[in-house]
Amino acid sequence: MLIINELDSNGILTLTLNRPDKLNALSTEVLTTLSTLLAEAKANDSVKAVLVTGTGKAFCAGADISKLAECNATSGYEFALLGQNVFHQFETLGKPSLAAVNGYAFGGGCELLISTSMRIASTKAQFGQPEIKLGVIPGYGGTQRLSRLIGKGRAMDLCLTGRFIDANTALSWGLVSEVVEEDALIPRAKEMLTQITQLAPIALQSIMDVINQGFDMNLQEALHLEAVHFAKVCATTDKQEGVSAFLEKRQAKFIGA
Ligand code: COA
Repeated sequence: MLIINELDSNGILTLTLNRPDKLNALSTEVLTTLSTLLAEAKANDSVKAVLVTGTGKAFCAGADISKLAECNATSGYEFALLGQNVFHQFETLGKPSLAAVNGYAFGGGCELLISTSMRIASTKAQFGQPEIKLGVIPGYGGTQRLSRLIGKGRAMDLCLTGRFIDANTALSWGLVSEVVEEDALIPRAKEMLTQITQLAPIALQSIMDVINQGFDMNLQEALHLEAVHFAKVCATTDKQEGVSAFLEKRQAKFIGA
């Protein structure tokens, strides 16, 4: 199985890239499988959040270089669009996603993790956009999402030098929000997602939509979008429940309505 998928009793769907002999490189089959699994996850109400990780020493060593070798201008364009479209599914999933970066995350692997809502890493993780060393540029969103996430200067550094950075550097650059020991990676990822999935689903979706869409707007438009979503969540049963629970000093029980 190219991607192992396991849904736990808390509604956390774990997708594990499973092509360890090729360091979980993103073949066309891996990308189309990921696309199908994300579409199913979006449609399945039992799935509350998605966790992505990899088997072996890699999270994902990037786009499949043997496929890249065959690319000309026409097929190269399609190659880039395929990866971009699949990774964009994380942003339109409507549910939180988290990358648990267990090892190498290079090229398309790094572009995959910056498409998810959140990222944590094990101390073994390494990150980079080494495409320049192959004479190409990142094509699965790296030039755009990376600069939005960690700033233009650091994105330029990674993309222009092709160098690798370790987990603690990634933490200090804001590429990941936590670094934990290898054994603690998946338990911590599940703990984070389980805590989030106890919260109000409509408000969670609004936060992701406003942050993602707001990035591509000017400040006034983005603030307006925030106000529109704020109004929407104010009309939910979950908002009544959240505020009442606080005032009554009890745990809120959200229902997603
Ligand atoms: N695409 C296809 N195959 C890949 C791959 C990729 N992106 N990355 C690694 N592999 C394959 C290797 O070809 C090798 O296959 P083989 O055993 O059939 O020869 C296998 O995975 C193991 O890789 P190897 O290079 O032997 O492991 P390593 O531990 O010595 O080095 C890396 C690890 C990640 C530093 C090295 O594999 C690498 O630089 N990979 C390419 C990273 C990259 O440029 N990604 C961006 C692609 S656009």
